[in-house]
Amino acid sequence: PKKIIIDTDPGIDDAMAIFLALQSPELEVLGLTTIFGNVYTTLSTKNALHLLEIAGRTDIPVAEGSHVTITNGTKLRVADFVHGNDGLGNQNFPPPNGKPIDQAAAVFLVEQANLYPGEVTLVALGPLTNIALALQLDSGFAKKIGKIIILGGAFFVNGNVNPAAEANIFGDPEAADMVFISGADVIVVGLNVTHQVVLTALFHKTILEADRDKLARSGGKFAKYLCQIMDIYFSYHKDSYEIKGVYLHDPATLIAAVDPSLFTYTEGVVRVQTTGISRGLTILYNKQKRFGEVSEWCDKPTVKVAITVDAPAVVKLVMDR
Ligand code: BDR
Ligand code: CA
Repeated sequence: PKKIIIDTDPGIDDAMAIFLALQSPELEVLGLTTIFGNVYTTLSTKNALHLLEIAGRTDIPVAEGSHVTITNGTKLRVADFVHGNDGLGNQNFPPPNGKPIDQAAAVFLVEQANLYPGEVTLVALGPLTNIALALQLDSGFAKKIGKIIILGGAFFVNGNVNPAAEANIFGDPEAADMVFISGADVIVVGLNVTHQVVLTALFHKTILEADRDKLARSGGKFAKYLCQIMDIYFSYHKDSYEIKGVYLHDPATLIAAVDPSLFTYTEGVVRVQTTGISRGLTILYNKQKRFGEVSEWCDKPTVKVAITVDAPAVVKLVMDR
């Protein structure tokens, strides 16, 4: 199986992605690293430990990540109105028994990349601070990490924090820009793709059966847990987007590690706007026109940006697992 590390801010869709990874025979989860985003980092760590306990996988290490952005200059924004104060649907779960390992997330990332050069896929489901820190710690990290698959950005569509920015990029724009131009083998999955991947729910009875009801009836341990925490996530989507369902941002991105062929990609340079009202905006430059003099764009390494997705196949995999 493919060795993966999940950098995460759990988070309801993060919980789905983590369970999905644990249920995927194609993957071997080496560890979870935590970051602020949906909640502050301390709570992300508790939630990561809690989710591994629910899954019976306390053998997997959790390394706590940064509590501040890469420049330490940005006030953190948490998304309690999307995921609940506890990040997991306000269920008042008891605190986990386990503890994070005695190594910071960035140190753990560097160590694993050195242990298995070229073999580790890092799936980043929150702001990119820990990955930027790993790049600063080890100048060879970009080449030693096998692949980085990022849930972040919004290409040619509006963001979800504001019209310009998607939440994970908005969380630490300077870190995101560093990662996009690091020269690592990067795949970016943005809102332009994840807004097509919807787990359906019905608030009024119709003849169609919704995914949420199927999950609730499946009797599976993970399905049952997810149905318990997901209500607030459904309400948020109903109020903010007027859709009968939820976007599967993080699980869809995890699927790009399981089966990259369910997406198509375009290649280009991605940079992040770090100032003004469009702070956090991701801009893709596909090199179709030469701008010879603008080296901040032309001379930078490219990444792959997901452009289309086989949404029914992705939702089916999520449901099955
Ligand atoms: C991303 O932000 C978080 O709310 C989600 O967990 C996802 O990673 C979506 O913009
Ligand atoms: Ca997330």
